[in-house]
Amino acid sequence: MYKLIDGKVISAAVKERVKAEVATLKEQGITTGLAVIIVGEDPASKVYVNNKKKACEALGIISEEYALLETTTQEELLSLIDTLNKKESINGILCQLPLPKHLDETAVINAILPEKDVDAFHPINVGKIMQGDFDFVPCTPAGVMEMLAFEGIEIAGKTCVVIGRSNIVGKPMAMLLLHKNGTVTICHSRTKNLKEVCQNADILVAAVGRPNFVTADMVKEGAVVIDVGINRVDGKLIGDVNFGEVCEKASYITPVPGGVGPMTIAMLMQNTLTAAKKQNKVN
Ligand code: GUN
Repeated sequence: MYKLIDGKVISAAVKERVKAEVATLKEQGITTGLAVIIVGEDPASKVYVNNKKKACEALGIISEEYALLETTTQEELLSLIDTLNKKESINGILCQLPLPKHLDETAVINAILPEKDVDAFHPINVGKIMQGDFDFVPCTPAGVMEMLAFEGIEIAGKTCVVIGRSNIVGKPMAMLLLHKNGTVTICHSRTKNLKEVCQNADILVAAVGRPNFVTADMVKEGAVVIDVGINRVDGKLIGDVNFGEVCEKASYITPVPGGVGPMTIAMLMQNTLTAAKKQNKVN
């Protein structure tokens, strides 16, 4: 019998914690502010940005949304980031990805002040994660770690397999599991014997972006299965894990929707609070 790891419940607990701390800061005259930049008309990005805005409002975090035209130039975007870097009331800056093709994503990420980089995408923050001494963790891997901790799932000594090697999820996810003393393997499109590698996993994290990619034959009996996938198929959200069959083998499993998704936003709120505290020298 598997246990469902409920992202709605765990994210609500994180958000309650953040809300209380934001209120305490406010009593000390310190506000917490997040700027979210979106360029163009990508429908999924619009939904994500709107959810981020709503979460800020619910927690007492000031949110500023900058919705820029698809035709925005690199100079215009960098100039906005420069303004926000200097704006005292803004503690965190997030530029929703992907950006339109004509914009240089790396240059944009690098332009955000590391201490306001609540996505933890800036090379300084990526490097800090590698070193294991960091303030911000990318929101999705941070959410997964929070879920494992909430459920009391031990990582030390466990065989952990991460499918997917993106900068946003796969790579930082692997580092976080490693810092908790997991034995970590990252799999990707060129991995040979993917099924056999996954079959060894005590903790299996799927971040491939392919619907129902992980099937029961890839999963060890009693494994913890974390599904990071959010795939839109015929208007429905489908994870990277074939939940219907994998749940029969898993000890713990996250659903889609209602699993890792809600955690991502909660961890963004957490990172914004961390930024506000750091910038105001509050512990
Ligand atoms: N697009 C998809 N996920 C993310 C994220 O975590 N941060 C940003 N900035 N863009 C995204």
